[in-house]
Amino acid sequence: MDYSISLYQSTELKELCEFLNRCWEFDSITPQLLDEKLHGDPAWQEDLALMVRNENRIIGFMQGVIRDIRGIRYGYIKLLGIDPTFRRKGIATYLYNELEKKFVHQSVDAVRIYDVPLNYWMPGIDPRYTPALCWAMRLGFKRFGDTSNLKVNLSANWDTLDEETKLATDGIVIRGAFPEDKQDVLDFIQDEWVLWGNEVEMAFKDDPPSMHIALIDNTIKAFSAHNGNNKGTGWFGPMGTHQELRGKGIGAILLKRCLNDMKFMGLSYAVIPWVGPIDFYAWHANAQVDRVFWRFEKKLHLNES
Ligand SMILES: CC(C)(COP(=O)(O)OP(=O)(O)OC[C@H]1O[C@@H](n2cnc3c(N)ncnc32)[C@H](O)[C@@H]1OP(=O)(O)O)[C@@H](O)C(=O)NCCC(=O)NCCS
Repeated sequence: MDYSISLYQSTELKELCEFLNRCWEFDSITPQLLDEKLHGDPAWQEDLALMVRNENRIIGFMQGVIRDIRGIRYGYIKLLGIDPTFRRKGIATYLYNELEKKFVHQSVDAVRIYDVPLNYWMPGIDPRYTPALCWAMRLGFKRFGDTSNLKVNLSANWDTLDEETKLATDGIVIRGAFPEDKQDVLDFIQDEWVLWGNEVEMAFKDDPPSMHIALIDNTIKAFSAHNGNNKGTGWFGPMGTHQELRGKGIGAILLKRCLNDMKFMGLSYAVIPWVGPIDFYAWHANAQVDRVFWRFEKKLHLNES
């Protein structure tokens, strides 16, 4: 067979999008979303987006990305697909080996699949993609955890006026964020949630921002966002409440305000991804587990010698 390997070019976006939609049985992506995953990644590296063609047709694609997280340098397979008629020919393995060489060259410690913080498509492998599980295990990846995406039916009433009135008597003000609140939210997440900066930035690209905040004496104490990743799909999060103020119902109000926004954007369902406290969302928003993901890691043991 005659294969050619190249790096993805932005002129190939539409063709790549059609290709991935042919490969993926349980997902579909738009060119806008695909571009968000590629060039929209704050750590986008064009040398890690590998494409295979046969007779000028795309038959394989693998995107890698690198993140430094709490002292560990992770490489990720961020997107992956092989044309159904070209499977079991070693193409994904070839692409992975090429990517891994690049990761080694860039001092990556461990490789994970799909669960790329701050800009990702899905937070792991949906086990219904059984060939992908088999493939990953064959390559030496170990499953280290699970996570899930929850689904919320937005038709409910998300009004929070009564709860907000009660909190106001304690000096807690809840409101939608203004564009000029951006730096304060970014400062607020510095200590505990610095990884969420990109999603906060993305939420502030909307007008009005897809963001709600709680303040005491004009200081931000909690926030919730939506439309910060996979824009336009009803993607909720991130959200966080200062430790001293947890348990007062602030998070529930902020969550409902975001759900209400999404309802008025015309969406029927919201996705609460990569969860996390299932009971909190089940209780406050009647969220249900919709998709389950398995997380895989392969250590490259670069630092041993
Ligand atoms: C998963 C996927 C990328 C594998 O691509 P591929 O090019 O067929 O994989 P390879 O030929 O390199 O497979 C190497 C090994 O992986 C394992 N493997 C791959 N597909 C398998 C399958 N359907 N069943 C069992 N094992 C499988 C085998 O051990 C295989 O070696 P072998 O053929 O010598 O037995 C491909 O099936 C695919 O594109 N699936 C849909 C997209 C997808 O799942 N993306 C990831 C979503 S999270």
